[in-house]
Order: sequence, then C-alpha cells, then structure tokens
Amino acid sequence: MDYQSITEKVCKVAREAGSYLKSEQEKLREEQVVQKHSHDYVSYVDKASERLVVSRLKTILPDSGFLTEEGTAVHEGEPYWWVIDPLDGTTNYIHGYHGYAVSIALRNEHEILSGVVYDVCLDECFYSWKGGGSWLNGKRLHVNSHHDITQALLGIELPYDAANYQPTIHHLISHFYGLCGGFRMNGSAALGICNVASGRYDGWLERGIGQWDHAAASLVLLEAGGVITRFDGSPDYINYGDIIASNGTIHQELVEAVKEYRLK
Ligand code: IPD
Repeated sequence: MDYQSITEKVCKVAREAGSYLKSEQEKLREEQVVQKHSHDYVSYVDKASERLVVSRLKTILPDSGFLTEEGTAVHEGEPYWWVIDPLDGTTNYIHGYHGYAVSIALRNEHEILSGVVYDVCLDECFYSWKGGGSWLNGKRLHVNSHHDITQALLGIELPYDAANYQPTIHHLISHFYGLCGGFRMNGSAALGICNVASGRYDGWLERGIGQWDHAAASLVLLEAGGVITRFDGSPDYINYGDIIASNGTIHQELVEAVKEYRLK
C-alpha cells in the first residue's frame, strides 16, 4: 500500500471538509446545537462533515472500515480502518471561535499508518505517513529539543467530563503553574498534539479523550520525533484516552507528574 499517495489524497479530503466547516460556521444557529453528554456538543455540521469525509475515503480505499466520532460508518473486522473526527474543537466552533480541525487517520490492528489534521482557521495541514516524516503545508516538522521543564510551554486540555476529571485538572494546574514556562488550552486535542509535533509546545496532556481525537495527530507527532504514551508511560496509547504527548526530553517528568492519577 502506498501510504504517501493515500495521505496526499486524504489531505484534499480534509481541506474539502474544512471548507465546508468554514462556510457553515456563520450560518449555524444555537438551536441547531445539541448536547451529547454534559458540555459535549454536536450539530448537523459535524454530521455532514463526517458523511462527506466517509464518502470520499470510501473511494480511496473501498474495502476499509470506519471508526468515527458521530457514528456514520462502522468497522466490521476490516484489516484497515479510518479513524475520523470530522470537527475536532466543536465547542470552539459553535462559539464562532478559532481552533478547530478535521482529523483523519488510517490504522490497522497495531498502528497508525497515515494521519492528517487540518486546522481550518489557520489553513495549516499537518500530515504524515508511516516512515515518511511529518509535514505542515509542505514543510518538514520536528519536535523541539527543549529539556528544561521550567521553560516548557505545555498544552493541558479540559475534558468535558468534569465530574470525573476535575481532580486531575486541579492537580495538573497546581503542579505546573509556576513550575513550567506556561500552559495553554486549545479546545482541540488534535491541534494540541500537532503543536508538540511542530515544536510550538514541549508537551501536552489530556484524560478521557476519544481515539478520533488523537489518532491522526499521534502519527504526526511520532514521525516528527516526539513521544506519545498513556498516563502510565506505556506506548500502547492507540486504544486509550489518557494521553501524554511530548518532545521526548520532558516526557518522563510529565509521566511522573500524573502518577497518582493513572487509575482514577
Ligand atoms: C474535543 C476536543 C477537546 C477535548 C475534548 C474532545 P470534539 O473533541 O478535542 O479539546 O478537550 O475531550 O472531546 O468533541 O470537539 O470533537
């Protein structure tokens, strides 16, 4: 399978879906947004974007399955399947705020083979294929080599499920505030991880996210020389949702910082 050629086609799909998202943002009305769970929103736009992406991907690899955030298509044992978030950063989007993306990964049982994350507002397409490096609009990406946590810029996201994750967030903020150089919240897990891949962030953490939030970005990060693990530091992150992404040099410090929150 030619992963590079597949990835190039997927970039076009992500850009097409991104144009659709952009064109709908001003039309979207409040009453068209519903809550899936507490503070976890969806609208017709997420669903239409997903249908568009699925239909295009079916022409690229007709025999592949799908794991998608909005459940438009299914994975029924196919050896290859797409993992799709048709609008990562929905809360930003519905507020007319920037920082949302289309995220598309191709995976098999063991690994991610191709990953594309398109930041619609910045027109930045992050992409990567296994063994092919990481790229942003044609420019090769590398993580940074910062090793001093006191200078680090970290991304820390707030999961929707506050009831479960509040203690972790309180811990992370009190642990890192004043210790690291600064931290940011993106509202898009995929873009947060890509910020590590491009060297803008040194590290990034979130608990309880979906596979569609991190699958594509994880390959972009790995191929840029970064590290992604579960909260306990183990590398089998793909099917899990408590995620630490970093430039590698500060990874162990991040793992240590969340030690007591691994199983909670
Ligand atoms: C969400 C975003 C957000 C993260 C949430 C995700 P969605 O994805 O990635 O940054 O904090 O946990 O669910 O719902 O906008 O696709």
